[in-house]
Amino acid sequence: MSAAVSDVSSSRVVLVGAGNMGGAMLSGWLKNGVPGASVLVIDPGTSEAMKAQIEAAGARHETAAPADVKAGILFLAVKPQVMEAVLPKLSALVGPETVVVSVAAGKTLAFLQGYLGDGAMVRAMPNTPAMIGRGVTGAYGNDKVSEAQRTAVHDLLKVSGPVEWVARESDIDAVTAVSGSGPAYVFYLVECMAEAGRKLGLPEDLAMRLARETVSGAGELLNRSADTAARLRQNVTSPGGTTAAALAVLMAEHGMQPLFDTALEAARARAEELGR
Ligand SMILES: NC(=O)c1ccc[n+]([C@@H]2O[C@H](COP(=O)([O-])OP(=O)(O)OC[C@H]3O[C@@H](n4cnc5c(N)ncnc54)[C@H](OP(=O)(O)O)[C@@H]3O)[C@@H](O)[C@H]2O)c1
Repeated sequence: MSAAVSDVSSSRVVLVGAGNMGGAMLSGWLKNGVPGASVLVIDPGTSEAMKAQIEAAGARHETAAPADVKAGILFLAVKPQVMEAVLPKLSALVGPETVVVSVAAGKTLAFLQGYLGDGAMVRAMPNTPAMIGRGVTGAYGNDKVSEAQRTAVHDLLKVSGPVEWVARESDIDAVTAVSGSGPAYVFYLVECMAEAGRKLGLPEDLAMRLARETVSGAGELLNRSADTAARLRQNVTSPGGTTAAALAVLMAEHGMQPLFDTALEAARARAEELGR
């Protein structure tokens, strides 16, 4: 058990919603030394595989909030659309020592406080590579969050990758636009490259294999390299070469940057709308 994660084990962790994101977080906690006995999972629709994992870890599973538990860390991982129905049933889990952590897109701390009181709260935005321990999470904590609570929450979030704390709650909507929704942009890049390859005459399945391996390989190279993305790009761009010809289009005035500016503005605006 790592020293950092063992800090978490002294407080009860209650996870509400063990679906894609909550389930990935739970698996990471259990693999990284959070004792199953300190975890309570509340989810009426848990998959059989997740139930087996909860049981094997010696964690407790309930379909609704029990009356006999106060959470040390109350981790909310249900869909934003069901929050209004779920939150009123969770207030008994919250005591003076509880820190509430929500990963629900767009749901503000003011919204959560309306149901769970005005104690310590964190909004966190992970992304789907969390499922393989390769996510990145943006987090914001209000001024009620103690140093010890912040450390404990950081330890839980970091099982799925680096955790970046932001200074303002509104920054979480920008984090959502960059990294929360970001994996979908990269998957779409693969689709676009494959389609362009097909239009150049390659068989569709070959174009897709080439695009897929290129994006995942380039991502891994970026991951393993100490160089910046710009340096790695320059390293493969010979003056007057083929890469330079393509980048002249992508980096033109109306190329990818303004497109990304507009796309991420749309994502952030949607996150703001969801929070209203
Ligand atoms: N997936 C992502 O990429 C991602 C990224 C960042 C943040 N998030 C946030 O993570 C949250 C969960 O998303 P997800 O994709 O993991 O959704 P999901 O797979 O649908 O998981 C939600 C889980 O909550 C369960 N649930 C429904 N009602 C409940 C209740 N009353 N009490 C307890 N559990 C209940 C669901 O059960 P049923 O299936 O039976 O309804 C499901 O197992 C969302 O708020 C989302 O904004 C997700």
